[in-house]
Amino acid sequence: MGPWPLDPRGPLAESIGVVYWILFACAVVVLAIVVGALTYSGIKFRDRPGRVAQQIHGSNTLEVVWTVVPTLMVISFTVLSWNRLNFINDVNSNVAMTVKVEGRQWAWAFTYPDQPMFKLPDGTLLQSGEQLDIPVGQKIKLELTAKDVIHSFWVPNLGGKKDAVPGHTTTMWIQADQPGTYKGQCFEFCGDGHADMLITVVAHPQSEYAAWAKTAVEEQVRLTSPETKAGHDAFLAGPCSGCHTVKGTTAAGKVGPELTHIASKPNIAGVLSPVNQENLTKWIHNAPSFKPGILMPKFDGVLPDQQIDQIVQWLLTLK
Ligand code: CUA
Repeated sequence: MGPWPLDPRGPLAESIGVVYWILFACAVVVLAIVVGALTYSGIKFRDRPGRVAQQIHGSNTLEVVWTVVPTLMVISFTVLSWNRLNFINDVNSNVAMTVKVEGRQWAWAFTYPDQPMFKLPDGTLLQSGEQLDIPVGQKIKLELTAKDVIHSFWVPNLGGKKDAVPGHTTTMWIQADQPGTYKGQCFEFCGDGHADMLITVVAHPQSEYAAWAKTAVEEQVRLTSPETKAGHDAFLAGPCSGCHTVKGTTAAGKVGPELTHIASKPNIAGVLSPVNQENLTKWIHNAPSFKPGILMPKFDGVLPDQQIDQIVQWLLTLK
């Protein structure tokens, strides 16, 4: 099932779901009793010729029943909700990590905690937009704020919903019980792009989380490094752009395959897999050795090795 709050995938959503179902069941019972009694009376005591209604006044038993039963129900709901709210609002006990969340028109930014695994060489912390990666089975505290207007963080399967308010920090927690991808959405109307202000939470098995963080840090470093910038410039200035198109750049060659999302492809030209630093480097150095007859010439000795390395760094950012 899609993102649906009554399909809980974590303790928070489950806890809210249980309250929902209890209230729903009670409401159905009350509805059945009221509508049943109404229907029964309407038929049994309907107006017929020659019949005069019997005048009754006050039945102690009935009065007590319909005062006491609803009172007990309301008290039970209050206690139940109170009890769950304590669990839902407990953002501080057993927290595995705290992620800072910022909403702005119209995107989310997640800043990972101040821990060595999320540190970039320049001392800043790993950040991501739209997608939040968490380890499975651990309680993740979120500290929310907003840059411009009020937004609201909601991932239905994981439960809870919290406003992100400018100039103010609100807190909530999430936890996923199984690995997977959980979709969410900004839930406070925040302008033109509100509908596109999506959230994706990816829960990784705990054993794989450190590896994910390492790759994410490497990717972020790559995106901002001078090497990558040099690679971008070399690609556009050199022979590459004569044959290849990369959308969003001036490279518009039609001879070779388009490389706009090369880093997300399963392989290079169908023969080298996966698309990583090592294989891209080998490929550019000598493509014909992997695919004889190919139009792409070998660049070994044609372009300086350093420049090929830089181009590879840039290609790896094309996701
Ligand atoms: Cu942000 Cu709606």
